[in-house]
This record gives sequence, structure tokens and C-alpha cells, in this order.
Amino acid sequence: MSMPGEGGETVRFDPADGGLRGTLRVPPDKSISHRSAIFAAMAQEPVRVRNYLDAADTNSTLAAVERIGARVERHGGGELTVTGVGLRGPREIDGVLDVGNAGTLMRLLPGWLAAQPGRRWTFDGDSSIRRRPVDRIAGPLRQMGAAIEASDERFPPFTLHGAELRAIEYAMPVASAQVKSCVLIAGMSTAAPTTVIEPAPSRDHTERMLAAAGVPIERAATTVTVGRVDELELEAIDVPGDLSSAAFWVAAAVIVPGSRVVLENVNVNWTRTGFLRIAERMGAIVDGELEAHGAFTPGEPVSTLEIADGPLIGTTVEPEEVPLAIDELPLVALLGCFADGETVVRGAQELKVKESDRIATVVDGLRGLGADIEATDDGFVVRGGGGLRGGRISSHGDHRLAMLGAIAGLASREGVEVEGMEAAAVSYPGFAADLARLLAR
Ligand code: S3P
Repeated sequence: MSMPGEGGETVRFDPADGGLRGTLRVPPDKSISHRSAIFAAMAQEPVRVRNYLDAADTNSTLAAVERIGARVERHGGGELTVTGVGLRGPREIDGVLDVGNAGTLMRLLPGWLAAQPGRRWTFDGDSSIRRRPVDRIAGPLRQMGAAIEASDERFPPFTLHGAELRAIEYAMPVASAQVKSCVLIAGMSTAAPTTVIEPAPSRDHTERMLAAAGVPIERAATTVTVGRVDELELEAIDVPGDLSSAAFWVAAAVIVPGSRVVLENVNVNWTRTGFLRIAERMGAIVDGELEAHGAFTPGEPVSTLEIADGPLIGTTVEPEEVPLAIDELPLVALLGCFADGETVVRGAQELKVKESDRIATVVDGLRGLGADIEATDDGFVVRGGGGLRGGRISSHGDHRLAMLGAIAGLASREGVEVEGMEAAAVSYPGFAADLARLLAR
């Protein structure tokens, strides 16, 4: 299977003289789209999903739930009707379940399928997914009674044998919303309640969606307990805009002189907005109503964000902030190049097991554009203030690296060529069109 970006398209991004200006509705949230498809597939009654993300990753999830028996009607404009198979109804398939590039699909779906006694499935994906560990879900699922055989004990392809699961109390070694979600989903089928304890809070879209579906779920700080259910009661899901996609425009508006960007319908769930708090600490002015830190509401809050360029100062991102800004840490490095003083990210070793090794790819990539940046064991250090000269950067097939390179180009002195720009379609197929709108005069 091929990796997006291998031998792909090279695109040049020139300095955006005059800045980025305008209003955008950013694409639908990827995490919430994955969850809406998976939970709708578990329901018995049809579920209407509005504003589903039409991107490579989330299309992999639709294809996967269809293969195990759900029916997906695509009405256009991101509107779907998913008719599920019920919690105990997913069917076995011939061949492998292809997750493509989607780590979230690979880690969440097994939570459901592990609870199907006597049935088995084999998961595989692209060359990037084959480097991403599944031992982090295999461990708890085995404790619950499922069997998993993985390549080298920890990588896809892997085969999952479902079982009658038993409840566990699972203290997670790393803060990962994917692992937390997997165990909670499996916990909906255990006779006694299942509990997950996180080392630090991570995104909580699963908890919010399950609560909305009538699943008994109790939350206190970093502990979540889920009770057994026989049915999910979901009628309609509205997917809000993706903060992680919005973050590219936030960063661009902050570092490209003369910018003023308005982003509408952005999900501002506090477990996702770590990057906005970090950017504000660096001096960025982001106007918009953000959800209060620590709020445990069932729904997903949305807001309009307004951002303009301005001077930045370096900051230190501490380990407990990392899960709340995990996918935006490459952008923290970029802001660091334009900030006075040092910007340090600590406790972010998880970056090494993302779509690429994002410590190595971000540090090497930005250094090639003129940044003074060094990798550490658990993050990076940027000595900023000099901006970026420009040059060439590879996406390594990683969607967020591709878009990082593009934004770097807009803010650079000489422009940036991004190799493998098509990787952006994993989460943001409309990226180039949205950029063109913000550059139009
Ligand atoms: C995701 C959780 C994060 C994030 C990923 C999506 C999710 O991964 O990096 O892009 O949808 O739950 P981890 O929870 O494994 O850190």
C-alpha cells in the first residue's frame, strides 16, 4: 500500500505580501467525524450525520463501517444517513479491514469488535500506519479477554479475536484519547462498569458523544467510568469545524504581517484548545468565546475566532499541556521561529508515533527553511526571532507537515516548496482553495 506524499506533488508557497484576509468556515472535525460514523454504526436506528468530513481519513472510516455491515447513504454536502448494525451486530469479512492512514479508526474500531465473541477481523493500512503502535490498545483489550496478534507484537497488520469481555480499571501509561476511547467503547459491553484513568486529560469527544447517546458515563477530572448498554440512542450528530485545521490559519494570521482572519463554527472544546492558549501566551490575540477549562458538558461548543498578526515571545509548553495541543505542536515550533527568545516543548515524546515522527520531521523540515531549532528526547527547542528564509520541505506523507510547510512559505522571506502536498487531503482536501480565498484581494 502506498503512503500519501511518496513521490507526490510539489507545490510552491510564496510569501503572502499584504497578509491573509477574510472569513472561512474550516472543514468538519476529523476526530468527531470518525466517532460519529463508528457510533452511528453501533446504533440500531438510522442516524443523520451533518457536516461529516469528506477527507481521506474519515472516508476510510465510512468504508470500514460499511464493510462490517452498516449502510451509509451520502446525501451530499457532508450529510449522511448511517444505518447501523447494533452493538452486537458487526459482521466478519473476507480479507482485511483497510484503515488507510487513519490512526483513530485503527484504535477505536477494535474496542467495539473486541466485544464480539467468536468473530475475528484483520486490520491493515498504509505504510505510515504500519509504523504506528497498536500494543497500547492490545494491552487493555487482552486484559479484558480479547486476543490480538500483531506484527512484531506491536504493529499492523494485526488480527483481533472478539470475546465476552470483562470489566477492568485501566490506568493508561500515556495520555491518549484514542486508547481511552477504545477501552470505553469495549467497556460498553462488560457486565460491570469499566474505568479508565488518564495521566492527564486528553480530548473527550468520545465521552461527550456517548453521554449524548444515553450511555451511562461518569467523569471526574482524569477518571472516566462507563456502564454496560444494549443500545445507543443517537438521532442526529452535527459535526463542528476542526480546531486542528483552523490552527493553520490561526498560525498564518499571527505570523504573516497585515493579516486578519475570521474562522467560523470552530469547535472550542477545552480539551482541544491548548494551542490557542499557548499562542495567546506567546502574545497572539485570538478573539472568541472559548469553553472554560475543565468543563464537562455533553455537547460540543463552537465559536467564531478572529485573529490578527502581532509580535510574539517564546514560551515553554509543559508536559500536561501536550495532550491538549498534540496535533498543533508543529505549529508551536513554527510560531517559535517568529517569536523573540526561546520556545521549548517538553513531554511530547508521543509526537514520535504520529503520522510521521513529528519531532524529527518538524525539526529537520524547519531547519531546512532556516530555523534555529533542535530536537530533544521529548520535544524541541527553537531559538526564534529570525523568521524563516524559505527553501524546500518534505511532507513525509504527513498531512500536518504538508500544511505546516505551506504556512511556513507564506511567512517566509523567499517562499517554500512543499514535496508531497497532496498529503493534506487526509484531513483538509480544501486547504488550497481556502488559502486562495484568504489571499484574494
Ligand atoms: C485523536 C487523538 C490524538 C490525535 C489524533 C486524533 C482522536 O491521538 O493525535 O490526531 O481522534 O482521538 P492520541 O490520543 O493517540 O494522542
